[in-house]
Amino acid sequence: MVSDEAMPGGTRARIRCDILGQGAFTEMQGGLFRPWLGPAYRATVEQVGGWMVQAGMTWRIDAAGNVVGRYEGTQDNAPSLLIGSHLDSVHDGGRYDGVLGVMLGIEVVAHFHALDVRFPFALEVIGFGDEEGSRFPVSMLTSQAVAGRLTEIDPTLRDRAGQSVAQAMSAFGLDAARIADAARKPGETLGYLEAHIEQGPVLEAEGRALGVVSGIVAQKRFEITIEGIAGHAGTMAMALRHDALVAAAEAILAIERIGRGGAEDLVATVGRMAVLPGATNVVSGRVVMSLDVRAALAADRDEAAQAIGAELAAIAARRGVTIGLAEMQALAASPCDPVVTRALSNAVARVTGAPARHLASGAGHDAMVMADLAPTAMLFLRCRGGVSHNPAEAVLDADVDIALAAMVAFVETFAPVCPASTPWKNLPEGTPA
Ligand code: HGY
Ligand code: MN
Ligand code: MN
Repeated sequence: MVSDEAMPGGTRARIRCDILGQGAFTEMQGGLFRPWLGPAYRATVEQVGGWMVQAGMTWRIDAAGNVVGRYEGTQDNAPSLLIGSHLDSVHDGGRYDGVLGVMLGIEVVAHFHALDVRFPFALEVIGFGDEEGSRFPVSMLTSQAVAGRLTEIDPTLRDRAGQSVAQAMSAFGLDAARIADAARKPGETLGYLEAHIEQGPVLEAEGRALGVVSGIVAQKRFEITIEGIAGHAGTMAMALRHDALVAAAEAILAIERIGRGGAEDLVATVGRMAVLPGATNVVSGRVVMSLDVRAALAADRDEAAQAIGAELAAIAARRGVTIGLAEMQALAASPCDPVVTRALSNAVARVTGAPARHLASGAGHDAMVMADLAPTAMLFLRCRGGVSHNPAEAVLDADVDIALAAMVAFVETFAPVCPASTPWKNLPEGTPA
């Protein structure tokens, strides 16, 4: 086995994702589930903090439970270029979704630390705790806190065990009332770079290792509640039933039909469903299920959501059930910043020898929230079969090595020729970008 230090940084990043995909770093037997603030998340934060120190950083846990590493610039307390992604996972997820971007951020710093190179700004690496929303019904809580968009937690949010966010934070040693302390101060962050697997088929189909994200689609999350009449499966005549589960089945097919019939990039998904009382011999009286609607344009997303709402009302009337559609979260479409995206495209072209391929992201990312805080760019890595949110997720070490080279090149061109206190966009003409 090649020693940890001797191997290429990209390969080490991938190996560390594999380490974090098992053992104490997951709450699922035989697979990966790492929800925010759980024991597996705690072990992961400690491990990532140790790797940050090895790379020459100091590290801390912020008020939202994110892990943040810092590599000082040529002057202390300089504003920073922030590199990161998320550490939490979906249930039975893949090992590289999110984590790879954090491991690559650590490798970028390790590269410059080994050369004893510093910039007129600091480098910070952040591992966000709750991008997936796999524990509570909403997502991106911890990047929203960092971007200053979340000052208090909705006390009604509960996880599957009925725990509130405040209880989960308290068990982790955090105070939900102080989550706003995670917000970064204006001017503290010069830019945000996120490297992430594409989670789609485009780069593999075109034989490319890397892509540059042009923008992230708009998304909304809803909760659908269907109230019927529970009854005895043996004695309740079919014609007299108000079966919540059959109404849900009709609703799911209608949602699929509407998702297929809209804009090319429109998607609509029911991913989670609770059937109550959930017994073999009981006609279901209540179903609660999720709805995820996305499109590049918010108008297309909202038009589909309205059409779904109308269809649910028609199904409710036909079947004598009540159907509620509650919006849980709305995330606007987020274009990546043209200046830093151009700098990233130039860096990708330099290391690959070919013009960068630009593509939109159908998946949501912390970058769509961080774009509110600082100029944001995203780097995509090819993943096998475009598969993600699935244990079959896989990347090539050679691609991760190339991604690292592009990120290093980006940081070198990001170094403003002017004092780090000058906001990135006001660089003098001629600055390489
Ligand atoms: O849902 C998403 O797009 C992301 O994986 N959280
Ligand atoms: Mn994901
Ligand atoms: Mn992700």
